[in-house]
Amino acid sequence: MRIVLLGAPGAGKGTQAQAIVRRLGVPHIGSGALLRGALERGDEIGFLAKPYMDRGELVPDDVVVGMIRERIKAPDCERGFILEGFPRTIAQARTLDRALEGEGEAIDKVAYIKVSLSELVRRLGGRWICRNCQKPYHVLFSPPRVEGRCDVCGGELYQRPDDTDYTVRRRIEIYLDYMPRVTEYYSVDGKLMEVDGEQGIKEVQRELFWALGVEDEGNSD
Ligand code: AP5
Ligand code: MG
Ligand code: ZN
Repeated sequence: MRIVLLGAPGAGKGTQAQAIVRRLGVPHIGSGALLRGALERGDEIGFLAKPYMDRGELVPDDVVVGMIRERIKAPDCERGFILEGFPRTIAQARTLDRALEGEGEAIDKVAYIKVSLSELVRRLGGRWICRNCQKPYHVLFSPPRVEGRCDVCGGELYQRPDDTDYTVRRRIEIYLDYMPRVTEYYSVDGKLMEVDGEQGIKEVQRELFWALGVEDEGNSD
């Protein structure tokens, strides 16, 4: 199953992608997480992306597309994957389709998690992320069992440098500019499913699994 997960900054893409991964066992490919990983390792892609990420703007298509094309060619993607936060522009969507077509493959489903702007700001304001496995937490909505530590792997929790007020506003502006064209692209294809992301994490997961046609065994959080 090849799934694309779309949504605004703070919509819950990372949170829900991890639930799908636990259920389907396919790799989670988050474009933002891959860029942050490249930056941490000191790779050239990280160096190219950093000024854009710091401003909350989109990293140029050629940088992101090259990185994703490379990643989806890896052997662990043969049975499928969850692309999260990619594509964000029409150019990215078209290149993805062409790359998959070349292999006789295609995106099966696209889920778009919809959340109001005020809720996005609330969620990003209280977010902490595991430095090791990237699991997102929230001081109010999904706190870790031990303060500052990841429930899953014990990793250290940190706040992303682009979660400041100014950068969050800019990321949301950019999202409002670009996302309608991407959702339009997939709705023409008949692949787009909208999910009400305003609900609690478990409720969103249930609706998302239903939209994707994935059985929800009710045993993942
Ligand atoms: P990226 O890392 O993708 O960031 P983003 O799109 O801004 O999205 P977030 O990660 O902030 O939100 P999320 O939807 O994953 O929410 P989460 O699950 O954490 O991109 C970062 C940057 O990289 C971009 O600005 C850009 O520069 C660059 N980039 C990335 N991809 C690119 C691309 N394709 N092209 C060009 N540039 C690219 O949840 C948020 C919080 O809410 C958490 O605290 C969580 O615990 C909580 N929460 C989640 N769900 C719920 C719920 N239902 N109820 C209550 N709380 C909830
Ligand atoms: Mg994320
Ligand atoms: Zn962790």
